[in-house]
Amino acid sequence: MDNFIVGLPKAELHLHIEGTLEPELMFTLAERNKIKLPFHSISEAKQAYNFNNLQSFLDIYYQGSNVLQQEQDFYDLTWAYLQKAATQNVKHTEIFFDPQSHTERGIAFETVYQGIYRALQAGQKELGISFQLIVCFLRHLSAAEALKTLEMALPYKETIIAVGLDSSEQGNPPAKFQAIFDRARKEGFLTVAHAGEEGAPAYIWEAINLLHVSRIDHGVRSIEDQDLIKYLAEQQIPLTVCPLSNIKLKVFETIEKHNLKQLLDLGLCVTVNSDDPAYFGGYIAENYQAVQDALNLNQTEIYQLAKNSFQASFLQLETKQSLI
Ligand code: HPA
Ligand code: ZN
Repeated sequence: MDNFIVGLPKAELHLHIEGTLEPELMFTLAERNKIKLPFHSISEAKQAYNFNNLQSFLDIYYQGSNVLQQEQDFYDLTWAYLQKAATQNVKHTEIFFDPQSHTERGIAFETVYQGIYRALQAGQKELGISFQLIVCFLRHLSAAEALKTLEMALPYKETIIAVGLDSSEQGNPPAKFQAIFDRARKEGFLTVAHAGEEGAPAYIWEAINLLHVSRIDHGVRSIEDQDLIKYLAEQQIPLTVCPLSNIKLKVFETIEKHNLKQLLDLGLCVTVNSDDPAYFGGYIAENYQAVQDALNLNQTEIYQLAKNSFQASFLQLETKQSLI
């Protein structure tokens, strides 16, 4: 891999911690917790990571999460990610977690939170990676379920910067969660949402106008709406783009057809992220490398992407300025 890319200080802003569960750790945790996996071997698991769209991925992703049971499992998961991120010079990470995929299985919110949070604190101390936590609502579940999850997060709100929205996009518009996001903002949370990954540009407008998001996760379908592109550029609303994810989930046919460079050229605050690296074949540096190779990005453009990642982060202004 290109040394310039690996060595460049980067912030990661779109990373589902459950999506960093490598098959090796999945098998270790399955054994530790006496859970039967639908795969017989690591290579069989990897062969199943062949997706047609977002839903076909989500089915496998939620199944994988079943091995996470104890606080230590969440710690080990997060620690493994941080160690990997450190080797790629990630200086700051803002990670999503999906409490509902665990509370639905009878695991306490606190178990999930404590495991992740303790590992993040260790990562800050031992690896020098600063962090923020974003609690995501699963949009295929009801608004009432999201509200219950928000209420579980309230005791920890001093250490959770934002709420987000993920899972099956089509048919689950941001509007469905307007009241919950209103409540979250009243409680002091910032907001983000996955929008315009598979969903239409109208969902991006809803995320902006109804959920008052600080960033759009994915947002690549914004290209279909010129007024939206103009607005995103003028307001510098960041997009957390995940190139390898978009190829694996067939949002674009090939990496050469990805619109990241187009969005960058149009003046949008585009960032590069890994989404679910254990399932999509690469961490953040592999994502930078893939777009550099396929879209012929020069060093200035790569540098701009890394600079955007700090600009778009929830770091304090002075910290941002010292890092950029
Ligand atoms: N989109 C929606 N939900 C998700 C994703 C994604 O890319 N990754 C994990 N949950
Ligand atoms: Zn995502």
